[in-house]
Amino acid sequence: MHSWWDDQNPDRPTYEPLTDDLACDVVVVGAGLVGVTTALALARAGTSVVVVEARTVAAGTTGGTTGKVSLLQGTRLSTIQQHHAESLRGYVGANRAGQDWIRAYCQTSGLSYDERDAVTYATTAAGERRLRQEQEACVEADLPVVWDGEPGLPYEVRGAIRLVGQGQVDAVALTARVAADAVDAGARIFEGTRVLGVERGPRRRVRTAHATIEAQDVVLATGTPILDRGGFFARLSPKRSYAAAFRTEGPAVDAMHLSIDAPTRSLRTSTPDGSVLLVGGNGHTTGRARSEAAKLDELVAWARETFGVGTPLATWSAQDYSPTGGLPYVGRLLPVDPHVHVATGFDKWGMAMGAAAGLALAGDLLGEAPGWRDSVRAWRRPALRDATTAAVVNAEVGAELGKGWVSAALSRDEDPPSVRGLPPCADSGDGTRLSAVCTHLGGVVEWNDAERTWDCPLHGSRFADDGSVIEGPATRPLRRR
Ligand SMILES: Cc1cc2nc3c(=O)[nH]c(=O)nc-3n(C[C@H](O)[C@H](O)[C@H](O)COP(=O)(O)OP(=O)(O)OC[C@H]3O[C@@H](n4cnc5c(N)ncnc54)[C@H](O)[C@@H]3O)c2cc1C
Ligand code: FES
Repeated sequence: MHSWWDDQNPDRPTYEPLTDDLACDVVVVGAGLVGVTTALALARAGTSVVVVEARTVAAGTTGGTTGKVSLLQGTRLSTIQQHHAESLRGYVGANRAGQDWIRAYCQTSGLSYDERDAVTYATTAAGERRLRQEQEACVEADLPVVWDGEPGLPYEVRGAIRLVGQGQVDAVALTARVAADAVDAGARIFEGTRVLGVERGPRRRVRTAHATIEAQDVVLATGTPILDRGGFFARLSPKRSYAAAFRTEGPAVDAMHLSIDAPTRSLRTSTPDGSVLLVGGNGHTTGRARSEAAKLDELVAWARETFGVGTPLATWSAQDYSPTGGLPYVGRLLPVDPHVHVATGFDKWGMAMGAAAGLALAGDLLGEAPGWRDSVRAWRRPALRDATTAAVVNAEVGAELGKGWVSAALSRDEDPPSVRGLPPCADSGDGTRLSAVCTHLGGVVEWNDAERTWDCPLHGSRFADDGSVIEGPATRPLRRR
């Protein structure tokens, strides 16, 4: 699958893989929006920065985003209000700073930043109650949302809240340009170079397959952190979701819409005249859908029926990580180590917040913390409700671990693609037989029939059908059998 954004940006700059040892002040691992924003801010301040990207710039979640740069974020503000009321305004302040940065950057770089209203709508009575709670959280955070009984959709809704003056971008174009500007400011970028580990010492040693980089500080801008120190994987839930682009006669919607009720429906337009409709939704925990292909088919069928559109121009999926308690984690990987930093837990709201995270991490390293900095720290006193949510997430992970091993042991005679036997073997049916045991922490992978990948239901590592790592906390491939 390839995203609509890939089609829009065929000629973006490419960078060579890393082949020789290097030394620098800061290594940024990962060239999504967070990584390149961090690198640009540091390079412009005169810091020597190396960016190491396993695939290509914006190949991760940033390449599959719907690109809404919005302070109205579904039910996120009421979730934060429930768990961390004291951080609500700070979280909105961080997002506002990120949004301002993206808007200004797009304007000065000649990239399009389309001003749009953001709309969150409800179709059920329960959804309407949640919408009212969200409205209250917005008021508390000084966001001037208005109740909107008719949000301009071709189906019935019970109500909506609208925030004017938000924005939508092509995140791949944005990220590629930020990366290129970082290089112009002195940063070096290496693509096709997966970081395998970071060794501690007087300076950090960042290990890749062919070379090592020595640095004072390391920023893990890898979606979910690749190192297990800090145990962030246990505080995050990996969520996969789907998107499709359709040609329309004119703009099919006049705003960026998001449903509050399940299944999620996310809508926006693209291209200068708005004649492409992007539809997203049908999310689930990675590795736990009965059929990923069915999830995508159902989303496409809904769009065709609802908007009368034809065959999709592109379909794709991507994943992001939901934190317990709603706030992202931006800061130290471990409280006792001031030199390894992370940014994760954006919960599908990592555009404005992703840029803010990059600014915050660069600010930490340069000694310039913005006022909202504390609200999104990686380590904070957990609220009691966070601990409860984390316990539920980890109970589910434990159950999935047991389920994977037991069902592999029981299903010996299934046709490929399947996982069977002990130790579990993954057989995609093309002659490649792999260990089905995830190289992160021993989960048993599941076949993803939409993307022909092996996905781990525990913490979201994903592997290609040849066993190579695609994304998630794992850094080593599935072993050949
Ligand atoms: C379907 C979907 C729609 C979304 N829509 C929106 C939206 O409309 N608005 C919004 O605000 N947010 C949205 N989000 C969320 C947003 O896109 C993400 O939060 C954001 O892009 C995350 O950026 P990132 O830089 O942290 O991660 P990524 O873009 O995933 O970047 C991480 C990079 O690290 C690299 N990497 C990983 N491991 C290694 C390693 N070992 N060595 C080297 N490199 C490595 C990866 O290849 C990747 O390029 C959406 C998310 C999804 C899934
Ligand atoms: S991702 Fe953690 S065990 Fe697979």
